[in-house]
Amino acid sequence: MGARVEQQKKMAIDLNERATQYKIMAREVETNKGIYQSLLERTKEIESMVGVSSSNIHIIDKAMLPIMPFKPNVKLNLLLAIVVGVMGGLGLAFFLEYFTDTITNPDEISDRFHIPILGVAPLSKTNGFPVEHTFVRDPGAPLSEAMRSTKMSIQLSGIASQASSFVLTSTKPSEGKTTMAANLALAFAGAGERVILVDADMRKPRLHKFFQDPGDTSSPGLSKFLSGVSSKGLICQNGISNLCFIPAGPVPPNPVELLASDRFALLVQTLTRRFDRVIIDGPPYLGFADALVISRIMGGVVLVSSMGETTRDALLHFKKSVLNSQGKILGCIINKVNLGKRFGYQSYYKYYSYYSYGSTKDNKKKTKELAE
Ligand SMILES: Nc1ncnc2c1ncn2[C@@H]1O[C@H](COP(=O)(O)OP(=O)(O)OP(=O)(O)O)[C@@H](O)[C@H]1O
Ligand SMILES: [Mg+2]
Repeated sequence: MGARVEQQKKMAIDLNERATQYKIMAREVETNKGIYQSLLERTKEIESMVGVSSSNIHIIDKAMLPIMPFKPNVKLNLLLAIVVGVMGGLGLAFFLEYFTDTITNPDEISDRFHIPILGVAPLSKTNGFPVEHTFVRDPGAPLSEAMRSTKMSIQLSGIASQASSFVLTSTKPSEGKTTMAANLALAFAGAGERVILVDADMRKPRLHKFFQDPGDTSSPGLSKFLSGVSSKGLICQNGISNLCFIPAGPVPPNPVELLASDRFALLVQTLTRRFDRVIIDGPPYLGFADALVISRIMGGVVLVSSMGETTRDALLHFKKSVLNSQGKILGCIINKVNLGKRFGYQSYYKYYSYYSYGSTKDNKKKTKELAE
């Protein structure tokens, strides 16, 4: 009996322990169930969130592959380049015009300085003869045509006494006084006038090279005549009808004094009476008093100006000085005009060469023969 009680007790204790174990395991099951449940919920939550955007950014338009480059914008750049180029060019032109003191537009001489333009002589190409002989060697050349119209302008430029004796001068050296004087003298002589051409540039005489035979020493020249060394045979005959020539003679130490002498004034008076036209090739104006001294005595002053060489200051100074010394400016010959450049006078030359009788090959040959 006792054994059975003991056995029953043992069974009860065992049962108790098992119940305890069961409770522990049941609690563990409960806990694991909870964990499992919450994990399951979380998984479902995550699964449901897949595919849902996490921000407020939406695709409105899909990016397409461009058919042409976005940059550079060639049309815009081209337009900008043209506008900037034109503006820059204009600005630069105004800048240069403002800061360059040389006159490049012949109209400025007439409009701003009120000196009439008597003629526009083109820059001649060398044709196997000196440009100083162009009028007789190539009568159809643009330079010869220019000389004809310049001759007319001079004839009409002032009262007859002023235009009948004139001196050619320029503000600077090498602007073409000698070339213009030679061709003008030939043009006046060719028109039947009795012309005397005087080389009064006693500092740099050059006319004798074209109007005096190299071996001809018959004329003492202007310098010797004015200094009283010799007074005979001053005028040279050079075979060109109607044209006589007085060379400058040896270069004297005191050209201004010689030109300012009464002897020179008397010579000019005599020549004016004996000839229809007295043309003096003078020295340049700047730096020397010679040109002013001559312009007092002569009827008129013709300025020779090369575009791009004559400065505004020099021209203003020249005009004032000539007027102060009672000289009369007949006008200005624009020389060495480059027909390739835009001076506004090319159109005249186009017509010159179109109408000129020396423009065809045959005519050129005939006129050359006539001239020789
Ligand atoms: N219209 C022209 N076409 C071509 N060449 C020219 C023209 N005018 C002048 N020349 C040339 O320019 C140079 C200077 O000309 P020129 O001797 O006539 O100038 P100038 O004013 O008399 O010079 P200077 O002050 O030294 O006396 C010469 O070589 C001449 O042949
Ligand atoms: Mg000269």
